[in-house]
Amino acid sequence: MEKHIVLLPGDGIGPEVTKAARQVLQAVADRYQHTFTFESHDIGGSAIEQHGTPLPEDTVQAAKKADAIFLGAVGGPKWDQLPGHMRPEKGLLGIRKQLGLFANLRPVQAFQQLLHASPLKKEVVQGSDLLIVRELTGGLYFGQPSERRNNGQEVVDTLAYERHEIERIVDQAFQSARVRRKHLTSVDKANVLESSRMWREIVEEKKADYPDVTVEHMLVDAAAMKLVTNPSSFDVIVTENMFGDILSDEASVLTGSLGMLPSASLNEKSVGLYEPVHGSAPDIAGQNKANPVASILSTAMMLKHSFGMEEEAEQVEAAVAGVLQEGYHTADIDLKNGVKVSGSELAAKIVDQISTSD
Ligand code: NAI
Ligand code: MG
Repeated sequence: MEKHIVLLPGDGIGPEVTKAARQVLQAVADRYQHTFTFESHDIGGSAIEQHGTPLPEDTVQAAKKADAIFLGAVGGPKWDQLPGHMRPEKGLLGIRKQLGLFANLRPVQAFQQLLHASPLKKEVVQGSDLLIVRELTGGLYFGQPSERRNNGQEVVDTLAYERHEIERIVDQAFQSARVRRKHLTSVDKANVLESSRMWREIVEEKKADYPDVTVEHMLVDAAAMKLVTNPSSFDVIVTENMFGDILSDEASVLTGSLGMLPSASLNEKSVGLYEPVHGSAPDIAGQNKANPVASILSTAMMLKHSFGMEEEAEQVEAAVAGVLQEGYHTADIDLKNGVKVSGSELAAKIVDQISTSD
């Protein structure tokens, strides 16, 4: 198959992990006789430097024409003083919005080899395998008004949803649950927020269409607690944009590092954007310390969701598991008896497994 992939490396460790993602995709192409073509564009802080805007029109047009998009990360202290509409993060929110990427899938799986890397007890982490389905183009991060008022004496952000926006993300979550363990937890704050009460009603309405899936509702504060006390009780979680953002960073603790979590952002069509959950990690940028696994697992999601290449995706996941099994890990993983390697060395080992395993 021929596929055209747009790479948006971004800032900080973004370019480092994007390089690893590209190497893995190339190894898959070589092994399975596909042709993947790559085209890089600017986004975030690097785009501000080059073009004076975090999201150049060129980048949007290229992304719209791609078969899939890979994004590294954006942001950094250099741009922290810029006004809100000029910040690197606007590039990220902008591309999600412009491509209509409303469904953000964030699988969280505790690798057997890394159970000791989590600060949580091994018995708690064991068996954790959940999927957070985060609404990505609405809710608190997009609602208007969002502004300072009254000479800075007042401030407002808005949590707004249209019915159809909730319906489509709930449908996506039910469909994801169907191909997993068939249990859906809808997370909200219905004891306080009107938007959450409507969210709950919609989940209740949709339930009838998916009789094979069991449903529970959970308040977000309770869910935050349960994620670290009984994570293996979750299968699929569906939730509002900001709740999902926060809960997924929390859930990363199960895996031993934020550098392990991949994600896919999907729309109703087939163009998907794949990116690690972590940010640009300015504290380790340029030091070849970045864990490439989140990005590499994101390419597996690309192969599966955008290209329908199930076998290839499994090959990538198996290579990651295999290299971890051999004890190799980057410095962010706190393991006593492993072999600590650089980001590029870990990526090379994973590429090697993809190319040579039978
Ligand atoms: P972060 O995710 O960049 O880093 C948090 C901590 O995790 C740091 O100690 C970092 O070194 C570590 N870490 C993250 N990814 C890692 C990896 N692959 N390997 C090893 N260690 C890793 O979050 P932080 O520090 O809050 O934000 C830094 C910048 O990134 C900010 O400008 C923020 O706005 C931006 N950001 C961008 C995101 C994106 O592009 N999707 C998401 C989150 C933050
Ligand atoms: Mg986040």
